[in-house]
Amino acid sequence: MNTICIEAQVEKITQLFEKLPHEQFFVLTDKNAHQHCYPIIAPYLPQHHLFIVEAGETHKNIQTCTQIWNAMTQANLTRQALSLHLGGGVIGDMGGFCAATYKRGIDFIQIPTTLLAQVDASIGGKVGIDFQGYKNQIGVFQMPLQVWVLPPFLQTLPQKETLAGFAEVIKHILIADANQWQKIHTLQTLPNQWIAYLEHSIELKKRITQADPHEKGLRKILNFGHTIGHALETYLLQYPQRAILHGEAVAIGIVAESYLSQQRELISENDLEQICQLIQRLYPPINIAENELPHIAQIALQDKKNSTQAIRTVLLKKIGEALYDQPISLVEIQEALRFYIRRTTKR
Ligand SMILES: NC(=O)c1ccc[n+]([C@@H]2O[C@H](COP(=O)([O-])OP(=O)(O)OC[C@H]3O[C@@H](n4cnc5c(N)ncnc54)[C@H](O)[C@@H]3O)[C@@H](O)[C@H]2O)c1
Ligand SMILES: [Zn+2]
Repeated sequence: MNTICIEAQVEKITQLFEKLPHEQFFVLTDKNAHQHCYPIIAPYLPQHHLFIVEAGETHKNIQTCTQIWNAMTQANLTRQALSLHLGGGVIGDMGGFCAATYKRGIDFIQIPTTLLAQVDASIGGKVGIDFQGYKNQIGVFQMPLQVWVLPPFLQTLPQKETLAGFAEVIKHILIADANQWQKIHTLQTLPNQWIAYLEHSIELKKRITQADPHEKGLRKILNFGHTIGHALETYLLQYPQRAILHGEAVAIGIVAESYLSQQRELISENDLEQICQLIQRLYPPINIAENELPHIAQIALQDKKNSTQAIRTVLLKKIGEALYDQPISLVEIQEALRFYIRRTTKR
């Protein structure tokens, strides 16, 4: 298993480099991470080739990969080179895919700079790109050599992005740690000290992905909040002015899928109430109309994770434990979103 290192002092990465055998270094980043994060880390990097791509999900595609492979080729990278990926999940996923395929694979290190990438995307070895409108359609499982998580990068992250990442933290806690839930469900605002959250979330994702690296079973619990969340995210993408971040959609998915868990008497009404209150305190409400619900539910049916025509999701068995492959109906998805609408229009 790769080493995951959480380091509050950026200068300490000099020591991490000293232990590496590589002779060539390639740094991939995007325009925002280049502006905000590269200057922080640059003094501690060995001599390297720097390649900067446009920021954002729309650039996580084969055209950008071609540019990256081209830059790797121009830099004469050999099989012994190391590729470093400085950025959010887009850079980690796409950089990892390019490194995993360049000359049949060179070592890479993820240096995630968003909360989402630090607690989620950089851990577990899934790398890839979007293709023909399908998210993460092309990719491989390839573990990075190491992951270096540097919390100082989070200081420049826009609040919206921080909230999006925190939805995955909440998810990790709900599916795997009842004690931690007791500590966080009363949060009134986003935390400003991240180390303890990073350590906890990373450990948890690492444990789950190590137990089931190729998502045959247990790893599926990481999709809690994602069946309905992802359907909503995809639906709203059709309207550019209504598009929401993945994590914002997951926050709603968590409410909706917790509601279904409560309806099946897996979690209590009190548990559901705590979940809803936390999400409502932290996340701005998203407007969804009643007549949109059938369309959103239909998107969940097309989700690539569904075998045949049944929609399978993750439900909470109790706080801190999840069940995967739970069949749910289109009607239930609509009901769950109707619950979210009721909750958010009530206040
Ligand atoms: N591989 C996995 O297991 C996995 C898991 C979850 C998500 N993902 C992928 O991760 C991607 C989403 O990741 P993301 O939310 O990090 O998006 P992102 O990489 O697009 O980053 C969000 C925005 O923040 C900017 N940014 C990055 N670091 C910054 C910083 N420190 N300060 C200011 N701005 C900064 C980026 O340039 C970008 O504009 C998606 O493509 C998703 O599919 C992968
Ligand atoms: Zn997610």
